[in-house]
Amino acid sequence: MSQYTNLLFEVKDSIGMITLHRPKALNALNTELLQELSNLLDRIKEDTSIGIVIITGSGEKAFVAGADIAEMQTLTAIEGRNFGKIGQDVFNKLESLPQPVIAAINGFALGGGCELAMACDIRIASEKAKFGQPEVSLGITPGFGGTQRLPRLVGKGRAKELIYTGDIIDAGEAYRIGLVNKVAAPDELMNVAKAMAEKILSRASVAVQLSKAAVNEGLNMDLASGIAYEAEVFGLCFATEDQKEGMTAFVEKRKANFSGK
Ligand code: CAA
Repeated sequence: MSQYTNLLFEVKDSIGMITLHRPKALNALNTELLQELSNLLDRIKEDTSIGIVIITGSGEKAFVAGADIAEMQTLTAIEGRNFGKIGQDVFNKLESLPQPVIAAINGFALGGGCELAMACDIRIASEKAKFGQPEVSLGITPGFGGTQRLPRLVGKGRAKELIYTGDIIDAGEAYRIGLVNKVAAPDELMNVAKAMAEKILSRASVAVQLSKAAVNEGLNMDLASGIAYEAEVFGLCFATEDQKEGMTAFVEKRKANFSGK
């Protein structure tokens, strides 16, 4: 099972299931948890038996209630920057994991919790989930990527409103503004996340991973460079067995049987 203090991890049917598990602090992100997550992501990256990852929070109430306020309370400016950098580095690692990552957001996703969800590829929220970047109420800015990923997801105006007001929004509003992909009944959340994971796993995995890289890298480039990057990954697909299988299956009017090669 798990060798971590603040995380649970298991692999079943090619799905790596990460549960953030710090129940006494609503799964708040302290340095120890972030380091454990970083180590786990290094492991997952190298593990070709894992085709997709789902991240959720333990307990009924929270996905993640933010970065650990008790740990941050006495930090100096230099220490604050270093703490922010630890979170940013882990979330960058998560975002650039080769495998797709689905956040199954079971409850509060505030501050660092919302930022963690935004570093995932796809967000599925329970009807009970709540989102927000309440940092300015604490005298700080978002520090684990929120000022950058939120406007990229929901647009500059909505991101600024959420960040300046610190408002907490429910899952319906998060869906309306494009912060989450889907909303599910609380009891159905994991089933919906797993069904999406299984659908993605049934596709050609190299093509899925290259698509992920193209979207992520392209968003950091100008359009012409992104289009050129796409041409490269598109070409690469023709070196895979799955491209041959996918197109042969189409021509033969049968379901493709992908090998991941
Ligand atoms: N850090 C540390 N501990 C936290 C925490 C956090 N972010 N959020 C909750 N906890 C702890 C509480 O201190 C409490 O501990 P005790 O039982 O020892 O007192 C326990 O978790 C349960 O929390 P509450 O009693 O507050 O639970 P609630 O149901 O009344 O409220 C909540 C839930 C609305 C989520 C509330 O806990 C809350 O507002 N939490 C803080 C949310 C927040 O401001 N997050 C942003 C943090 S800053 C950040 O993330 C910066 C960044 O970008 C990197």
